[in-house]
Amino acid sequence: MTEAVEYSGLVDKRLVRAHIVAGLVFFVIVLFAGLLYGLQLQQLYPFPGIELLSPGRVRMIHTAAAAFGFLTNTFVACLYWVIPRLTGRPVLSRSFSWLIFWAWQLLVGISAGGILFGEAQAVEWGETPAWIDPVILVGAALLIVNVITPIFQRRDRNMYVTLWYYSAGFVWLALVYFMGNFLPEYWLPGAAGAAVVGLYIHDLVGLFVTPMGWGLMYYFVPVILKKPIWSHTLSLVGFWGLAFFYPLNGIHHFLFSPIPLYAQYGAVISTIAIEIVVFTVIVNFFMTLRGSSDAIRTNMPIRWFYTGMILYFTTCFQCAFQTTLTFQKIIHFTDWVVGHAHLVMFGVFGFWLLGSIDYLWPKLVGRKWHSDALRSWHYWLTTLGIVVMALSLTAAGLIQGYLWKGLAPWEDSLIASFPFWAVRTYAGVAMIAAQFLLFFNMWMTSRSAPEPSTARAPLGQEATA
Ligand code: HEM
Repeated sequence: MTEAVEYSGLVDKRLVRAHIVAGLVFFVIVLFAGLLYGLQLQQLYPFPGIELLSPGRVRMIHTAAAAFGFLTNTFVACLYWVIPRLTGRPVLSRSFSWLIFWAWQLLVGISAGGILFGEAQAVEWGETPAWIDPVILVGAALLIVNVITPIFQRRDRNMYVTLWYYSAGFVWLALVYFMGNFLPEYWLPGAAGAAVVGLYIHDLVGLFVTPMGWGLMYYFVPVILKKPIWSHTLSLVGFWGLAFFYPLNGIHHFLFSPIPLYAQYGAVISTIAIEIVVFTVIVNFFMTLRGSSDAIRTNMPIRWFYTGMILYFTTCFQCAFQTTLTFQKIIHFTDWVVGHAHLVMFGVFGFWLLGSIDYLWPKLVGRKWHSDALRSWHYWLTTLGIVVMALSLTAAGLIQGYLWKGLAPWEDSLIASFPFWAVRTYAGVAMIAAQFLLFFNMWMTSRSAPEPSTARAPLGQEATA
């Protein structure tokens, strides 16, 4: 896990950069699609009557581009950086990696086109058209073979916890994608299919995005703080706890539905159990920080990572309550859930990835960051944006829930929501502005004078550094 590996020919930096840039291109699509749909809810939609850009389709672009374009690309960039360092082995093949890179962008692009042309599959987060799902599954399988090979080939028999998370996450990804995109479509109609869709939405987050994210944290935090994780045993408790409890959670999306009540209760209990698991992981990371807490102030990636962890704890704590039937009576179907979703997907995993980019970009281009002030602005505007967005949606959710419970007319809840939706839009604009500061800083960094130690390879030609 040392930076000496930097020049050992294990990592294709251009590929890591390409995945980061592709991820950020999709990120821009995510942000503007979110903004557009937010404007629709404020009755300010700029493209009324254009079927291709109808708001429902734009919403699906927003969520699908977040999962498969932004998060997946950026996670894959990190996998290509981290796995060779932890195993001492390169991924299966460089040319194969590039093939997968282009194939993946093509698949996500075709899926987005399919959604815009009305071909979406009726599965939340599985809206990728049914005719492309088999190809996506093959694409995911190729990616998995490429990155799992060094894990099998490593010489050190001890497996660091990051590799536990990654190995399991890869297996789960294939199973989860198959379950959500094929079972309800072809074999499980009705309530059974709905139950599986609930599992799918939740497992895509819990069994793919979460292991990728925690895997990253277990790698980057010790590397940056230059000390081992506080307790390896506790890290494995977290891993096995996730593996055991998470798959049972999904049905908490469908409480009060026709799905058998014992399955709903099972989901409630295992969701509460996950909170204990999360607590062990958070304790482990904060104990690791003990004695180095100044890093939160002085080290930007660490600041992103620990902010994400605090938000992670917040969302899981929310989960332990919001999964109960008592809470559900108020928040079901309200904007509370949308606030929660943004806090998790962006406030946690988005933050970890932005922190990873902050750490990796100077190393990938062999230059120092162009502007530390811009990095700081990026962090504060993004954090302010997501916190304000989550708070306004949480408040909107409570108001909607109580109005519906009091049997107020539906229109009353819409009128009450408008100010909160306006706040969401302003928060979104702040988040968008923040990301453009990041892009500008990345661009200027890659154009600045190279650092002496890395000056020997011109940018773009140090493919295996
Ligand atoms: C400019 C920033 C953003 C804005 C304005 C925005 C806005 C929206 C809107 C209006 C919805 C639909 C809510 C509804 O159906 O009532 C939504 C849903 C969603 N967004 Fe965003 N979004 C933004 C950024 C993001 C980011 C960066 C991510 C993830 C990385 C994300 C993930 C999601 C998810 C997962 C949902 C589905 C929520 C659910 O169904 O409960 N959003 N967003």
